[in-house]
Amino acid sequence: MKTVGIVGINGTVGQTLLKQFQKITVPFETKTFGRSDTIPALDVAVLCTDNADSVRLVAELKDRVKYIIDMSAQYRQDPKVPLVIPEINPHAITKDTHLIASPNCTTTGLVMTLKPLMTHYTLQEAFFCSYQAISGGGKKLLENFHTPGSLYENNCVPLIGSIQENGYTSEELKGIYETRKILELPKIKVYPHTVRVAVENAHSLGVTLRAKEPFDLAQVKQLWNQFPNLKYSEEVVTPKQISGTEITYACRLRKDVEDPTMIHYFITFDNLLKGAAMNARQIVELLLEKYV
Ligand SMILES: NC(=O)c1ccc[n+]([C@@H]2O[C@H](COP(=O)([O-])OP(=O)(O)OC[C@H]3O[C@@H](n4cnc5c(N)ncnc54)[C@H](OP(=O)(O)O)[C@@H]3O)[C@@H](O)[C@H]2O)c1
Repeated sequence: MKTVGIVGINGTVGQTLLKQFQKITVPFETKTFGRSDTIPALDVAVLCTDNADSVRLVAELKDRVKYIIDMSAQYRQDPKVPLVIPEINPHAITKDTHLIASPNCTTTGLVMTLKPLMTHYTLQEAFFCSYQAISGGGKKLLENFHTPGSLYENNCVPLIGSIQENGYTSEELKGIYETRKILELPKIKVYPHTVRVAVENAHSLGVTLRAKEPFDLAQVKQLWNQFPNLKYSEEVVTPKQISGTEITYACRLRKDVEDPTMIHYFITFDNLLKGAAMNARQIVELLLEKYV
């Protein structure tokens, strides 16, 4: 029997992934590991751990685990490591792949709406401001949010990750560089602004997109609706409504008042699902069906 392990089972993503595994139809055995467990030989391991733990685990499991999927940011920019969203770039995984990175949750929502447009539009610039849920910061941030007097209570905080030398946050830089890598568009300009808001689960982004060609709104909606796990809604969609669902929703699409090569829209999606555990489950399915 094929074996798939979840490392970091007591965390927010680990727990969500365990539930996602029930959707996999290919037979396999699930193994789960907390911090003090020893990890045996496995076909696939999903590391639902932070950067430093992932580094240690990748080295430790190198010869014992055939395929490692890492949820942390540690390897996402490594040119040897594919950064995969199965709806977008499953071809980045080959039979020689050993380590696969799963992208940042906010970037995932953005690129889910950019990829389908690439068949008809030459994308040049994407501006976004995020409204990121507390669950994106893991179980410690959720505990903090539920503690009276939390900074996040009734608030929005324009700091996610750490401030870098150039003034961007680490979260904002992920938005730039992960978008380019996943879409294989090294020249697309991304202008991110990331904000944590007092929403327990499901991220949202306000996006402005510029292409070389003028946009046709009906065509944009059609391209989005034809893409797997993405829907355009004529009604306003909010994170509270869609938390717990697997679809990435776009709404409020409009053309710029002056520039026909620009559109503006809002997206919302479950960061723990498409932004993390669902994406990992889809990669596991791909590996089980094709490679393991
Ligand atoms: N939350 C999201 O929406 C999201 C989205 C995309 C990516 N990610 C990434 O996914 C990873 C996990 O995030 P999270 O939100 O689930 O964080 P979390 O709630 O803080 O959970 C992390 C878990 O990893 C466990 N852990 C750490 N080292 C371990 C080890 N060596 N062996 C086994 N377990 C270990 C921790 O154990 P203890 O309980 O003992 O501390 C904790 O339970 C992070 O890299 C994060 O950046 C998160």
